[in-house]
Amino acid sequence: MPAKLIDGNAIGAAMRAELGTEIAALKKKGITPGLAVILVGDNTASQVYVRMKGKACDEAGLYHETIKLSKDTSEAELMALLERLNTNPQIHGILVQLPLPKQIDTNRALHRIDPRKDVDGFHPENVGKVAAGDATGFRPATPYGVQQLLLRTGVETKGAHAVVVGRSNIVGRPMAALLLQDGPGGNATVTVCHSRTRGIDQHTRLADILIVAIGKPEFVTGDMVKPGAVVIDVGVNRVDDPSKKQGYRLVGDVKFQEAKQVASAITPVPGGVGPMTITMLLYNTVQAARQWAHR
Ligand code: GUN
Repeated sequence: MPAKLIDGNAIGAAMRAELGTEIAALKKKGITPGLAVILVGDNTASQVYVRMKGKACDEAGLYHETIKLSKDTSEAELMALLERLNTNPQIHGILVQLPLPKQIDTNRALHRIDPRKDVDGFHPENVGKVAAGDATGFRPATPYGVQQLLLRTGVETKGAHAVVVGRSNIVGRPMAALLLQDGPGGNATVTVCHSRTRGIDQHTRLADILIVAIGKPEFVTGDMVKPGAVVIDVGVNRVDDPSKKQGYRLVGDVKFQEAKQVASAITPVPGGVGPMTITMLLYNTVQAARQWAHR
């Protein structure tokens, strides 16, 4: 039987509706959660993501500012902007869209964000809190969204063997940390594979829950999936397709048509993890506003 589809659009929409109640309650207390999104340069994919983040804030009733800087912005200029946003009372969350142009040191920029406003969860203080299971830390939006997909489709992580393919700071590493935490959506036995893992298919075939974020189109084939596994595909890759009007189509890091014959449940691309990422950014912005009010 082909796998059940895990619908990120539906789960994301339901979660945004739930969040609406909390946003309304905060607004009654005179707090409108505010997000600043900074885009440096003209990376096409980043422009699309930043636009989607602004639109999601509008729809949720959050205050937002999108600040676009030219591709030759200096590190000092970005730092000065971050300092201003750190002290701006209308702004509870700050997000610097990655990647940054090469004249800017990414870590130095991310470390300059006030950790209480670091809704991406990339500041070492939040990385540490998430690793230690401290719920006041911000969980990076993509793995946080994956965890919610698992929770809300009733996938039991406790005692399950979760295999994460990819070790990026944005997805793989924080994903492993969340699955290891004690509590709902955690308590898994976690294996992390990456580009240097020997015999990667031997690991993926042991996964009850297989989470793939390696950035290689259709890397995981059907024979790499254990029958009955839950497959979460974080990849978004453009591949040439002359039959499409745009000349390309989107595929994940998993060969969907093969994997869905073997798995018990699977996320599609698009419409799986993608819509959850922006939803969780909204959640983190609301968390930041709530924590700022109680500091
Ligand atoms: N670029 C790709 N993914 C992300 C993300 O989650 N946050 C930011 N800031 N940039 C990204």
